Amino acid sequence: MTARDIAPATGKLGVLLPGLGAVASTFIAGVLQARQSGEAPIGSLSQMAHIRLGDREEGRNPLIKDFVPLASLDDIVFGGWDPISPNALEAARTAGVLEERDLAPISAEMEGIVAMDAVFDQSWVSRLEGTRVKTGASKMELAEQLIADIESFRTENGCDRLVIVWCASTEAYRDVTEVHQSVEAFEQGLRDSDPMISPSQIYAYAALISGVPFANGAPNLSTDLPCMIELARREGVPIGGKDFKTGQTLMKTILAPGFKARMLGLRGWYSTNILGNRDGEVLDDPENFKSKEVSKLGVIDTILQPDAYPDLYGNVDHVVRINYYPPRGDNKEGWDNIDIFGWMGYPMQIKVNFLCRDSILAAPLVLDLALFFDLAARAGEAGVQEWLSFYFKAPMVTPNPDGADLPPEHDIFIQQIKLKNTLRTWMGEEPVTHTEQ
Ligand SMILES: NC(=O)c1ccc[n+]([C@@H]2O[C@H](COP(=O)([O-])OP(=O)(O)OC[C@H]3O[C@@H](n4cnc5c(N)ncnc54)[C@H](O)[C@@H]3O)[C@@H](O)[C@H]2O)c1
Repeated sequence: MTARDIAPATGKLGVLLPGLGAVASTFIAGVLQARQSGEAPIGSLSQMAHIRLGDREEGRNPLIKDFVPLASLDDIVFGGWDPISPNALEAARTAGVLEERDLAPISAEMEGIVAMDAVFDQSWVSRLEGTRVKTGASKMELAEQLIADIESFRTENGCDRLVIVWCASTEAYRDVTEVHQSVEAFEQGLRDSDPMISPSQIYAYAALISGVPFANGAPNLSTDLPCMIELARREGVPIGGKDFKTGQTLMKTILAPGFKARMLGLRGWYSTNILGNRDGEVLDDPENFKSKEVSKLGVIDTILQPDAYPDLYGNVDHVVRINYYPPRGDNKEGWDNIDIFGWMGYPMQIKVNFLCRDSILAAPLVLDLALFFDLAARAGEAGVQEWLSFYFKAPMVTPNPDGADLPPEHDIFIQQIKLKNTLRTWMGEEPVTHTEQ
């Protein structure tokens, strides 16, 4: 197998984050701490996981970061936009995820990461009041201001390359409309300030026009639109999304493939959460929760394939709730009640009580996405990066040329195989299929 021609990761990589909130500030703090301490960032596959190469007997098992040419943590420069948080330090303090003793050694660097004024519109996030917000005569003008921000960040920080990972609030749910069907329609919509164009779509447009890969960590439609897929291909830029796979959905995509592997039936899955951070407050609005619900509900169906297994998975009640409960802050608690059945139809129950920390689970995903999207760009990839589905609750798929919708892959184990085999083939190694190897 011949290796791809991948440009080396020389120079600085700018990681730009729309939304300097809990996830973004926790991500930045963790990278700064890892740089200072030399300790590995826990939860990051790109930094900590090994990858087997060749047959078992060969014993080749390097770290992924030593196998593929990824940017080094020391070469990352951070930036971002936020309508509320003035800088990364304030954002971290407001979020309350990290202890002061962890912030103290990096506080000067965090404070130096100053948020640029955001493209923000309260009609998409009703619970927030933005104060540091761009103004312009049209949405096209706002996009042009973002493009100018991206270029000045690039030059002022001497960045070789940039990536954008959306870490801002979940926007209200709206369907795809005419304005999203082509680049031409979208650009006209920007000039007309079409109300169906959301702030996150303006960021995505600005990124792609600037040749910057864009990964969407929230469930709203930013890149998962025909116009953005067309633009990404035209500009030769990788895109992906959506919604970081953490917490309850992570558990679902770990457990459900196990039930299916053992041919155990599922009758119902009831999930509820309490969450008290700003994300929880935003999701307390039914319109914003709708975006999240859509992204969370698709998971079980696609893993369990009820059409192929009607006896086991043809009648599943799947319910997801998120309740805003301020005392919990970022320390979400999730309860799952899973009704399964086995031999001769006898029912059983599983209860999962996950006391997680949302941003602690999401931060390593931001790092991996930034590094892998940068790698994809250097490998000449354009359009949807399905091999990074591993990181998303509602992975984007490349539309089929005949127009039929392809199902996304949700099974975390298949996603992991796909990710690693993509890296192997790009580097000229055989994919590992576990047959006679
Ligand atoms: N933490 C997780 O486990 C997890 C998992 C999946 C998805 N997400 C998503 O990641 C996003 C960030 O989560 P969080 O916990 O950091 O939320 P957060 O509320 O702490 O941070 C979001 C930040 O985005 C800012 N913002 C809102 N609109 C903006 C805009 N138009 N431009 C720039 N900034 C804007 C807000 O002011 C806020 O500071 C949310 O959409 C959340 O749903 C988080």
